[in-house]
Amino acid sequence: MHDTAPAFRPGYHFTPRRNWINDPNGLLWFDGEYHLFYQYNPNGVVWGDIGWGHAVSTDLQHWEELPVALHADEHTMIYSGSAVADTRNTSGFAGPGETALVAIYTACRRNPGGLQNQHIAYSTDRGRTWTKYAHNPVLDLGMAEFRDPKVQWYAPGGFWLMAVVLPELHRVAFFASDDLKSWRHLSDFGPAGATGGIWECPDLFPVEWQGGTAWVLKVDVFDGHVSGSMGGQYFVGDFDGERFTPYPGQPARWSDHGADFYAALSWNGLPEGSAGPVWIGWMNNHRYAKDTPTLPWRGAMSQPRRLALRRDARGLVLAQAPLAQLADRRTAHEHVPRMRVENGAHVRPLAGMQWDIEVTFALRDAAEFGLRLGDAGGDHTLIGYDGESHTVFVDRSHSGLMTGHPDFAGRRAAPVDAAPELHLRILVDNCSVEVFVNHGAAVITELVFPATAPASLALYAIQGGFDLLSLDLWQLA
Ligand code: FRU
Repeated sequence: MHDTAPAFRPGYHFTPRRNWINDPNGLLWFDGEYHLFYQYNPNGVVWGDIGWGHAVSTDLQHWEELPVALHADEHTMIYSGSAVADTRNTSGFAGPGETALVAIYTACRRNPGGLQNQHIAYSTDRGRTWTKYAHNPVLDLGMAEFRDPKVQWYAPGGFWLMAVVLPELHRVAFFASDDLKSWRHLSDFGPAGATGGIWECPDLFPVEWQGGTAWVLKVDVFDGHVSGSMGGQYFVGDFDGERFTPYPGQPARWSDHGADFYAALSWNGLPEGSAGPVWIGWMNNHRYAKDTPTLPWRGAMSQPRRLALRRDARGLVLAQAPLAQLADRRTAHEHVPRMRVENGAHVRPLAGMQWDIEVTFALRDAAEFGLRLGDAGGDHTLIGYDGESHTVFVDRSHSGLMTGHPDFAGRRAAPVDAAPELHLRILVDNCSVEVFVNHGAAVITELVFPATAPASLALYAIQGGFDLLSLDLWQLA
């Protein structure tokens, strides 16, 4: 007899109380609060009537959902975009003693083939209420596909900088503005890297690198991603105030090797002394999001990830790591010391399925080994290492509900450098697995829906044994 299916709602990832979400939007730190806006349907659990939902946090861990910030109307939906604090009042939206927050978003006309252009709205009450600018659009190319503006203050040039995408042309266009209302074209980037599907949701951000600044340009592809469907790619290079140029010999890389990390966006205006950019992604996939068995909500955000650049054998890579404050949520702990595992071994499971796992393996011997995350009915997700292809993978072919969905099942893998040891940090949160490989040199993010509680954790090996160097498992509050 099986227990009933667990509630899939994540415990430490953001989900809306009810209804559909997709992309994160308008990420901004202002006056002690991290703002998270997101594509939101206030009327249902499938995509539609899209506007911007809103949540705030003081620690990027605990979120308070606020009323919808921007509503669609009968003619226009409100697509993805970004937000800035106009501390210099360049827009003139703020009264004396006020700071206006300005959202820059794509308005998408509801009629088929209708225009997409860029609009702005502002708030002078810390993002609680918003007014759409009377003279929208502020940027219009007369195109049906033109969206997802990411705006930031470009300090070296003293202007607002927008990265916005021309999806079918596989181009990111850069524009500049002095007041957020009138924009001048700077340059275009692309096509480049993966172009198997339309491009969406560009992000451009500076990262400190060797005492200077490198720029990372990320853009998502709707098809042709390493996961077999959709996901992000990034380029590392220079932005000179006009043009983004990848560093020589620096290819496009995947932002995440899993199928469930899309439309990632970094926070604007992080407080002084922040240790580098932080981004968050929509932890789902347009291919099957509408079929995911979660009610009355649908869609979650990934854990926020701290970003840094690191040089490894492949060149410059974006290293992604969960925030340090996630460890504050660790409660019960299980430690498995160094041991030889011949076929398999059980790890004493901790209650629930909200876990933070750190595991180190010696990289030799077995053809395949790793962790088996099982449910009571025999379904399981494998998180392992494949010796032949030198990859780490998440295999959800038998993970429970959705297993039979053609776009869902499968094994998604990320290459690992030749090294004597392999370190994995694995975040499990009821219906999600995020695997940070070798301190975030690659990440694999996948949803899983185990059909029957409770969950178990085991070590397994195929063809030979392996040396486990250490394993720590924490329950997360
Ligand atoms: C990406 C995306 C964006 C668009 C939004 C609409 O998931 O398609 O390009 O702005 O979703 O919800």
